[in-house]
Amino acid sequence: MSGLEHVAPTTGSRRVLLEAADARLARRWSSRLRGAGFQVTRCDGVGRGGSGCPLVDGCSCPLVESADVVVHALRGERGQAVLRELRRSGPPVLALTGVHAAPAAQGADSLAAELVPLRLVDEVRRTCASRARLIALPLQLNDGRWVSIRAIDTADGELLRKFDASLSERSRQLRYHGSMPALTAEQAAHWATVDFHDRFALVAVAGDGEHELIIADCRLVPFPDQPGSLEIAIAVADDFQAAGLGRALVQLTLGVAADRGVDVVALVRYDNQRMMRLLLELGFRRTEWELGVVTFVARAQSIVEHVRAVTGQAPAAGPASAGRSALATAPLSGPD
Ligand SMILES: CC(C)(COP(=O)(O)OP(=O)(O)OC[C@H]1O[C@@H](n2cnc3c(N)ncnc32)[C@H](O)[C@@H]1OP(=O)(O)O)[C@@H](O)C(=O)NCCC(=O)NCCS
Repeated sequence: MSGLEHVAPTTGSRRVLLEAADARLARRWSSRLRGAGFQVTRCDGVGRGGSGCPLVDGCSCPLVESADVVVHALRGERGQAVLRELRRSGPPVLALTGVHAAPAAQGADSLAAELVPLRLVDEVRRTCASRARLIALPLQLNDGRWVSIRAIDTADGELLRKFDASLSERSRQLRYHGSMPALTAEQAAHWATVDFHDRFALVAVAGDGEHELIIADCRLVPFPDQPGSLEIAIAVADDFQAAGLGRALVQLTLGVAADRGVDVVALVRYDNQRMMRLLLELGFRRTEWELGVVTFVARAQSIVEHVRAVTGQAPAAGPASAGRSALATAPLSGPD
């Protein structure tokens, strides 16, 4: 087993700990979050028996430990102390105190109730998405080689350019549906910048440190022909093709995006048997065939469920053959 951390992506990132002293606000925010599919646990910052937040006393808190995201709206010095501790050790925190909750800071709770939660669900989703940046998943390919899958990083522009330039002419044709000039530095920097909310990208890498090379890139970007949908695009380095990497990477990327509840579209050249087979096996539907391009559609969450049903197992880092289940459904564990 590789020594890399295994941080599964965010399909399971639905557990929100809501810290707010105002019961009426907390009820309102909870119901909004629950309506959006989150599991919400509430804490008023007082703690059991009125003893206060255990974090501030240097202890662990089971509520924080079992949360994917903390929404923090505790005010005052005590609230700030809790926030400091959360930021040191907890899961991603969405702080609704300070500037984000100016009305609340003035004590105008009713106003805060109107203003603060307007974008609450969206903000919580974004905060959940930030967990995707922690993904670091060792994967053994069907031919025995080990690679790692991780979230793309803004510093990856040059590695992306090298990867793109290394692809064979046929792979580039299949990836771009025609000839495409080499990526410019600006394009590569743009591709390396994703928010894991509207744009997602995972890469597979081999080697480490200054020898690290991107050997596959899988991304989801807004699909202009169908607003609200995302288009999936992937390329695997020629040397690493047909070893299970493409399948694992597509599954993981869809798993990361599954919370968005969006349709995912794939446009595949008519002669790209491998990609078509991969998509069909994952549960995509073929919807159109036009000008040599075949359109496939699926809902990201349905693919996650489809693969879970077929494999019947939680994702694990292991051989890519088992990695058919390398889906984003395992309990999350943060890096040490
Ligand atoms: C298409 C691509 C992403 C697939 O990734 P990959 O790592 O090579 O594929 P995998 O090894 O995960 O295989 C996926 C599935 O393709 C099918 N497949 C593999 N090799 C195949 C072959 N030679 N012929 C037909 N199907 C094949 C199988 O169904 C396989 O699953 P299984 O063997 O586990 O049942 C990759 O080959 C690639 O980057 N190609 C060039 C760029 C491209 O086509 N991008 C897609 C644009 S839409």
